[in-house]
Amino acid sequence: MSHSNPPSPRRFAASGPLTGRVAVPGDKSISHRSIMLGALAVGETRVTGLLEGEDVFATAAAMRAMGATIERGANGVWSIHGVGVGSLLQPDRALDMGNSGTSTRLLMGLVASHPIRAVFTGDASLSKRPMGRVIEPLSQMGASFEASEGGRLPLLLRGISPAVPITYRLPVASAQVKSAVLLAGLNTAGITTVIEPVPTRDHSERMLRGFGANLEVGEDKGARVIRIHGEADLIPQTITVPGDPSSAAFFAAAALLVPGSDLVIENVGLNPTRAALFDVLRQMGGSIEELDRREVGGEPVADLRVRHSALTGVEVDPAVVPAMVDEFPVLFVAAALAQGTTTTSGLEELRVKESDRITAMAEALSLAGARVEELEDGLVIHGTGGDPLPGTPESASVVTHLDHRIAMSMAVAGLASERGVQVDDTGPIATSFPTFEALLTRAMHGEHA
Ligand code: S3P
Repeated sequence: MSHSNPPSPRRFAASGPLTGRVAVPGDKSISHRSIMLGALAVGETRVTGLLEGEDVFATAAAMRAMGATIERGANGVWSIHGVGVGSLLQPDRALDMGNSGTSTRLLMGLVASHPIRAVFTGDASLSKRPMGRVIEPLSQMGASFEASEGGRLPLLLRGISPAVPITYRLPVASAQVKSAVLLAGLNTAGITTVIEPVPTRDHSERMLRGFGANLEVGEDKGARVIRIHGEADLIPQTITVPGDPSSAAFFAAAALLVPGSDLVIENVGLNPTRAALFDVLRQMGGSIEELDRREVGGEPVADLRVRHSALTGVEVDPAVVPAMVDEFPVLFVAAALAQGTTTTSGLEELRVKESDRITAMAEALSLAGARVEELEDGLVIHGTGGDPLPGTPESASVVTHLDHRIAMSMAVAGLASERGVQVDDTGPIATSFPTFEALLTRAMHGEHA
């Protein structure tokens, strides 16, 4: 995988407006889940628009190691033949999760309620990330763990069957933790309940239902309560994955920031648990128009027409954080070019993503000449009022810390800078958006998708 390859540095610099049309690749969260659930449904699941990125390939490799057949057809449609809930096989080697926290945490959930053992390994970034948040509920269900110091990878998971159904109240707003418990509940007799005080992305719930699982979502004192009835048979599905809003975010920000831009981003997933960035950018004065709103694969989708706009700083309501948790790095870039100050808070979770995104972005933007103050739980950014950022100095590079979103956010900053922004390594971009640089070149030449 590219993150273990020699670094690929690159300078991103201004080169005219973004115009024409681009289609971003499939949603990463939905792609992971379609492979996992397809691998548990006996029969053929077909997936169109799957994200062909390293993170999703890590999930696919793990599911193959546990018995599923997963192949890409010549037409780009993926075919998955599953083993059945409860029938995952003992993998004969460690499951290499690469850079992917979603693969790791969701698969830990799946393995936890099967009578198999699996070793999970990952790259240097993933090996720093906390797994205690899933070890805790999965231990309550009966699984056992030998983890590295601090509840980190590499770790050995011993699953158990029958596992014990639990009721678990999420201590952090995390769709990964929620999904890990629900997936463990899939092969657990009885009802497994997750209480979610702050709603997070609901792709697992939507897709589990789509595959025929018996899952109910209710409400109790303002919290979402999700109940899954275990030992269900999943029915194979035909799935179309919508474009990833988290990938569209980079093009939306770039088009807003680069003068003269007028870009259509096609097929963007707008699930309300994911789409808050576009609302915040609109609040800042961004022109983002939804065209042809429709439904794809049970998810709301539209094409987004984004035009260069003068942005104004805002105070971002911490209540929207879960619905744009991956989009803050690029929001910080937009804020750095806005008129006035943007304040963010409630972003503690950003410190445990692929990198510490608060510090990484504070350092990266400062190096590019932005005015940024780092707080424990967010950044305060004083924008340039639309003037380009100075860019990174000669012989200094932004450090991406194996984090795709830092690399892509700072690429966007480079397009809106005087001297350009030097990024130390574009390799990690392949985890979620391998076609990013090609699409950027295309948009800068005004081509059509
Ligand atoms: C994801 C959930 C989020 C997000 C990640 C994908 C998912 O993580 O940051 O990129 O697919 O469930 P958390 O659940 O840890 O917030």
